[in-house]
Amino acid sequence: MPDIDTAASKDYGIGIPYQSQGFHVKGSDHYDWGMKSRLSRIFQPKSGRTLMLAFDHGYFLGPTSGLERLDLNIPPLVPYIDVLMGTRGALRTCISPATSGDKAIALRCSSGSSVLEEDLSNECVSVDIQDAIRMNADCMALQVFIGAPHQKQTIENLSIAVNEGMKVGMPTMGVVAVGKTMERTPQYFRLATRMIAEFGAQIVKTYYCDDFETVTASCPVPIVIAGGKKLPEPEALTMCYRAISEGAAGVDMGRNIFQADHPIAMVQAVRGIVHDNLTDKQALELYKDLKK
Ligand code: 5RP
Repeated sequence: MPDIDTAASKDYGIGIPYQSQGFHVKGSDHYDWGMKSRLSRIFQPKSGRTLMLAFDHGYFLGPTSGLERLDLNIPPLVPYIDVLMGTRGALRTCISPATSGDKAIALRCSSGSSVLEEDLSNECVSVDIQDAIRMNADCMALQVFIGAPHQKQTIENLSIAVNEGMKVGMPTMGVVAVGKTMERTPQYFRLATRMIAEFGAQIVKTYYCDDFETVTASCPVPIVIAGGKKLPEPEALTMCYRAISEGAAGVDMGRNIFQADHPIAMVQAVRGIVHDNLTDKQALELYKDLKK
């Protein structure tokens, strides 16, 4: 019988810093120069953290609220972020390489399902490494559905990206995907994030949860959090602050930024938490000041 993971039964070494051997990105000390260069465009060397803007929702949801016009909605937010996370279609049609050239690209490379389907896990690799290179991507992002009907297929998708990425020094970000009926417990997130890291992903994206520090402590690569459904701005900032305080290396937020009452103020408030160590209260004050 496999060992069941419960927080009480494990020693996660909470409070003991990750044993880094010099490079500022967790788990990446032993990679080659190109991989480290791309990771350094994503995770800012000064803070070790990243602010990604996720706007890939259209790949299975269509024109989500706040993203009806990618050409109008995204460019005003670009100055405040480190990484654009989107599909190649969105990037090529709506984002200027001239004005966003200093931003890293997290390229959505898996797809295959839509909101019309019950099982969202039936995905494939939809972008090959040549096009990722052509897009000047800094990492490839693929969903992994642990515990879903197509778990193995999504692990194969991730593995294809990791194998191809290793040949050219391009990181892969494994995205913990929670299907409509899947649980969101610390135990589940510890399992999924650790599996994805051990498959070779250099970055893991997941959701914030209780006991989050046990998730970040037991995952040997950096974790960034998704924002999830729109929350009132103070709650979104508190979630962000807690995630960073409990070991996240950044956020990959979408709806809680572009659906905020004032997206440009919100992205700056989130940036304050991620890079300037603002508390959630300080970030909320900043948000209120900026939206005046
Ligand atoms: C879906 C994704 C999305 O990019 C992400 O979840 C969207 O961000 P948010 O939840 O903050 O709107 O990776 O798996």
